[in-house]
Parts: sequence; structure tokens; C-alpha cells
Amino acid sequence: MKEILLRAPATIGNFGPGFDIFSLALEKPYDEIKINLWERASALDISSPEGLSHENINIKVSGRDEGLPVSVKDNTAGVAAEEFFKRINSHIGVDIEIKKLMASGSGLGSSGASACGTVYGLNKLFGSNLSNDEIIDIASKGELASGNVAHSDNVAGCLLGGFVLIKNFNPLEVVKIEIPDIPIVMSVMKKKERTTRGQIPKTMSLDKVKEQMSYCAQLVYAIMSKDLEQIGRAINDDYISEPVRAKSIPKYREIKKKILDAGAYGVNISGGGSSVFAICKKENIDDIAEIMKNEFPANEVIITRASNEGIREIAQEER
Ligand code: HSE
Repeated sequence: MKEILLRAPATIGNFGPGFDIFSLALEKPYDEIKINLWERASALDISSPEGLSHENINIKVSGRDEGLPVSVKDNTAGVAAEEFFKRINSHIGVDIEIKKLMASGSGLGSSGASACGTVYGLNKLFGSNLSNDEIIDIASKGELASGNVAHSDNVAGCLLGGFVLIKNFNPLEVVKIEIPDIPIVMSVMKKKERTTRGQIPKTMSLDKVKEQMSYCAQLVYAIMSKDLEQIGRAINDDYISEPVRAKSIPKYREIKKKILDAGAYGVNISGGGSSVFAICKKENIDDIAEIMKNEFPANEVIITRASNEGIREIAQEER
């Protein structure tokens, strides 16, 4: 096989209180990623990672964000591809074409989707038989290009679908839990900064740590009980990411209250921001979308739902 075409879903990384350890895959939006091994691939085979050359990895971005960097070291797909070649100790020329259908830089896991799609696709094309945890670990390195930290929550959710939790960092071990139907309304907003991770305080009081852990415990329990209302309550509070990311969203606390008053079970900020998402029952979707449209008039509003499906191959005709 020389070519693979993939659909890589958006994810809500952190998903409430689980900073860097929880994520949720969405049905839409998603990106499409095509990976093509060069025809003369075998001639370029090398046996040592020292022979790796950026010139043998071509990245093309089309769709809604053509301004994304295409140099190997600045694109999450490029860094992930390099990491893949280092791990398998081999390297051949490859074209990576990313069709952006989701907004980038908005906390939707777009950079993770590119990295995840690249490693998933290369693993298939090379028949490398990497485990899911290995794919996630390699793809996480791609995130260095977007936020300077190799976090795994978005790539894990993108690969596996459903609700994922990182249960061990070293070695990386990820678990997927199947989810019930979770309607989600999202106001998509690009953050001003490239990354806001650096602003997150390094320490937290013991009382807050206890509360944060209880939100995480509640969320896992709520997902396993398939209790939508409790899932909403559990993602509604967070002491790590939300306070920092909220600073870039005008009137965030006031608007969050309005959305909750309209019946949402929980509201929070997706990933690194500045998109805001709400979990609600089906009957409240339209009211909540209306509030988001009025309060964030410049933003796109997406009505979506959580999905148990992660990355998947698509046929050329589906494109
Ligand atoms: N866990 C990551 C963060 C998600 O909070 O920075 C970024 O999408």
C-alpha cells in the first residue's frame, strides 16, 4: 500500500478537570489527511536515524487554514513523522496532505489530529504494528511544534474515540471508555496566543487539589454510569486550565452562567481555548446555540456530539 486517506476527529482535550489526562472525541468537525509514500521510496531507505532529512517529508495544507506552517519542524505532522521514522529506524520519502476542515488554534485538537493521523497512517503504510499506546506516544511528540509540550490527551482521543484517560505517563498507557450520546454545542474562537500553557501556575493548594481530584473521580464515574447530567456537572469546574484560558474570553463567567441558566448541564473551555463548549440535553441545543450566537457574534457555532469513533480510513469517494 502506498497511500492512505484518513478522517481525524476534533477532540476536547482536558475535558473539564482532567488537565492533560482526559479527552473526548467529537463526531464533527474533523480534518482529512492523505499520506503518500514516494514511488521511488525503496531507493531512499536508510538504516540509521542520522540519515533523516527534512527534504524527504513534504507537507501541504489546504482547506480553511492554508496559513499553517508547512516546514517539518514547525508542523505537528512533520515532527510526528520524524519521530515515527526515528522509532522504526528507517526513513523513506513521504507526502502528507492535510485538508483542514476544522479551525486551528481554537482548542479543538487540530494539531493533535494532524500528528495522530500522520503516525496512524505511517504505521499502516509501513506495516509497523505499533500498539495504540506507541502511536499515541509518538504522535504526542508532534505537539511540541504547537505548544512546546508533548501532551497526549488530544492525540489519544483522536486515535481511539470516546472518552480517553491517560492512566500512566511513563510508560504511556491510555484507556478508552465508551460514552453515551452527549450533545455538545460549541462556540469556536481562535486564541490570540500560539499557546497559553505557560501561563498555568505550577502549584496549587492542597484543598484545591482535593477538589480537582474529586471532579476527575466524578467524571469517570459519570461516564461509566452514562449519566449525562452528572457528566455536565463534573466538567463544569476546573482549577487548572479554565481560570487561565477564561482570561482571553470576554465576559466568560457571565456568559457561562447564562448558558447554564438555559439548561446546560456543564460549560467549560475546550483544550487550550478559546472555544467554549456546553453539554446539554437535545431539547436545549437550540436555545444554547442561540445564546452562543448572540454572546459571541464573531464566532462559528457548531452543534455536534461526542463520538465513540476515532480516526478512520475513508474511501476516495467520501472526500
Ligand atoms: N491538555 C492540553 C492543554 C490540550 O490544556 O494545553 C490542548 O488542546
